[in-house]
Amino acid sequence: MDQNEKKRLAATAAIDHVEEGMLIGVGTGSTVNFFIDALGAMKRSIRGAVSSSEASTSRLAGLGIEVVELNDAGTLDIYVDGADEADPNLHLIKGGGGALTREKIVAAASQKFVCIIDDSKLVDVLGQFPLPVEVIPMARSYVGRQLVAAGGQPELRTGFVTDNGNQIIDVHNLRLSDAAAMETRLNQIAGVVSVGIFAQRPADLLLIGADNGVRSMGPTST
Ligand code: 5RP
Repeated sequence: MDQNEKKRLAATAAIDHVEEGMLIGVGTGSTVNFFIDALGAMKRSIRGAVSSSEASTSRLAGLGIEVVELNDAGTLDIYVDGADEADPNLHLIKGGGGALTREKIVAAASQKFVCIIDDSKLVDVLGQFPLPVEVIPMARSYVGRQLVAAGGQPELRTGFVTDNGNQIIDVHNLRLSDAAAMETRLNQIAGVVSVGIFAQRPADLLLIGADNGVRSMGPTST
């Protein structure tokens, strides 16, 4: 089975967690696109969706799903999003698509975070995938030096501007065996908007698409 089919399986399984009348947070990326398409085809009606990116907003609106501003929504029932890596603690690296800041906000505002991935993204220790860090443009060089001091090799994502008008630095070779501590450390750097480590607000449930179907991992199954 190819990777896209595994993504589609995980995304479709997430629909089982969506109940009538819910307000749903929606992430960004190719896996989430399968989820949005399944939401559009779903028979139960939802109250609306809060989107984490302009790309997801367009796709949701194109399917007639009402997009609600987070400021008007209050606490969301559920957030569904993909990830670039996930570990057995349900800590994640996100931001491959550059939407990490809004994703982090929507995840924080949600009661339950269901993360949908294909099995290639499940790792023992985070960090093979370069860590995305969103930075205010004028702070780019300063933040880069601080990232080197933290043990990483920063690389500017060229030709890319986030939905918030900022830049992304992808950081290679960071040691993330204590992901929550590194998240705290990097969050302290002046000019960092957000980092793609989701350890302080991890997923509550991982749905992993694989050759033999969808496997679930929650805090109790680790
Ligand atoms: C976007 C993200 C995505 O969830 C992550 O990059 C995974 O993307 P895909 O589902 O396309 O593999 O964090 O900022």
